[in-house]
Amino acid sequence: MGAAIRSLGAYVPKRRMSNHEFEEFLDTSDEWIQSHTGIKFRHVASDDEAPSDLGRRAAEQALGRAGLSPDQLGMVLVATASGDHVGFPSTACIIQDKLGASNAAAMDLLVGCTGFVYGLETAKGLIASGAAEHILLVGSEVLTRIMDWEDRNTAVLFGDGAGAAVISHSNNGCGILDSFLRSDGSGARALAREAGGTRTPFRPGQTDRRELLLKMEGRLVYNFAVQVIVDTVTTILTRNRLTIDDVKYIVPHQANERIIEAAARRSRIPREKFFVNIAEYANTSAATIPIALNDLVEREMLEPGDLIVTAGFGAGLTFGGNLVRW
Ligand code: UT7
Repeated sequence: MGAAIRSLGAYVPKRRMSNHEFEEFLDTSDEWIQSHTGIKFRHVASDDEAPSDLGRRAAEQALGRAGLSPDQLGMVLVATASGDHVGFPSTACIIQDKLGASNAAAMDLLVGCTGFVYGLETAKGLIASGAAEHILLVGSEVLTRIMDWEDRNTAVLFGDGAGAAVISHSNNGCGILDSFLRSDGSGARALAREAGGTRTPFRPGQTDRRELLLKMEGRLVYNFAVQVIVDTVTTILTRNRLTIDDVKYIVPHQANERIIEAAARRSRIPREKFFVNIAEYANTSAATIPIALNDLVEREMLEPGDLIVTAGFGAGLTFGGNLVRW
């Protein structure tokens, strides 16, 4: 049995923050941020918003578009790196409760920015096993609360937002056709929150506040990202006997427009094939790909039968992509 994306939804917080606002308290500039990343704006959650709140709104939109009620869901999957709580309870359980998805199991996927890519294949597998008929997959992040606002190397890169998809069984040849999923834990420290877990617990008076926040070796992740986007797209095309002409869009994780441009050059794939919307949202980690898919649908850029390839990479390190027939 196959599985297809039946509908999508997205939600970003109302507060829209420009690059210029960073100029007021960091040694940076709109010119630097735009020229190095392609980012112009990001949306910032209000104090009372957590990933479950953003995710719930995206989910409600996706469910409405699918014409399904929450009690028809057999599973709620949430990809997040900035969950409502540390470790437990899962953000998926909180969203399950907020929606009233009374017949659903619920679990989080801790895959960093590759979470939605892993989630599509997880949902497909659960549908094939008969565990669920309809699955809600959410990517939701409030990264602005775990980033270091005093560090210009990371603060300008991230934003908050959520995207959601309803995934249902499908037998007509459309849907999630293939997924390529990989990891490289040797790069675990390149993108990490050093303290707050059980290895390095928070100790009052001893733990440096910054160790609780997101840290990144930007150049290392940049080089990794370019390479794995190329590897992911090439592998998916080759093993499905496709050329890039068969594909309508590549939907990459939106971390930096220059990463996407470098991957396009290295793979000799025209830049126009890559869908990019980072200027508006910055990097929303597990939410970038579903927000991008939702944008494609809302802009009426996809037609039934179109092939798209997703390509994600992120903390873990993890990477991979999906081949989807719309
Ligand atoms: O979702 C997955 C996680 N994130 C990523 O994939 C991000 C991956 N990495 C990147 O996107 C890029 O490496 C960055 C955007 C983080 C940095 O861009 P870069 O072109 O690799 O810059 P760099 O790290 O080589 O730094 C160049 C200079 C440095 O100054 P010095 O040492 O040459 O004097 C930085 O201190 O740019 C400086 N710099 C800044 N200057 C102004 C770094 N951030 C800023 C800033 N404003 N916001």
